[in-house]
Amino acid sequence: MSFIIAPSVLSADFGRLAEEVRAAEEAGADWIHVDVMDGHFVDNLTIGPDVTRAIDQATSLPLDVHLMVENPERHIDAFRSAGADTIGVHVEACRHLHGVIQQIKKAGARACVVLNPGTPASAIEAVIPDVDQVLVMSVNPGFGGQSFIPEVIPKITEIRTWIRKSGRNIDLMVDGGIGRDTVESVATAGANAFVMGSAFFKSGDYKRFVEDIRQRLAPYA
Ligand code: DX5
Ligand code: ZN
Repeated sequence: MSFIIAPSVLSADFGRLAEEVRAAEEAGADWIHVDVMDGHFVDNLTIGPDVTRAIDQATSLPLDVHLMVENPERHIDAFRSAGADTIGVHVEACRHLHGVIQQIKKAGARACVVLNPGTPASAIEAVIPDVDQVLVMSVNPGFGGQSFIPEVIPKITEIRTWIRKSGRNIDLMVDGGIGRDTVESVATAGANAFVMGSAFFKSGDYKRFVEDIRQRLAPYA
């Protein structure tokens, strides 16, 4: 299993965003996670396509764009043009989930479906054959720095079982409260991709942090 470490720029110093993204790349991160919030689907307002483009220009790493917005289908093309390699949409925000996934793939991006902590795994079972990635939220979306919700662990195991059965190479990502203390429990459950916001950007030494996380993940490879 290959592990993916994706720092979330939500916890970066926005005044030095390009520098922060370059430092994450130099530290050995695999992807950059971009949290897009519209003030409707979640309370917070964050990043749009123009800032996403600036992030893309600062790094050669793939951009994993997490849309926490209502009507995500309206924004897919704009984020794809801005450099999104993967586009994640919440099952709770999609009236026609299958159609939105097809739209992401047609735009040329990898398609990711995202579930809130209160949403059962069954909500995405029917689209497993269509997606490239599943993202399980382990906090309620909206803000960085929240505490990990351990009740999502059985859901990760359940989705990993479906992915195995599908025979497809689908990444299973976890987002929210992931860091040194929680990464092993979600890896044991079957996650292979890890968003880390505050744990990464508040670590003080990004390179050392990535090395430490990889060491903790090594037994699960
Ligand atoms: C929360 C976002 C997360 C957040 C993670 O709504 O989707 O990506 O930035 O931050 P931490 O790792 O601090 O929980
Ligand atoms: Zn996120």
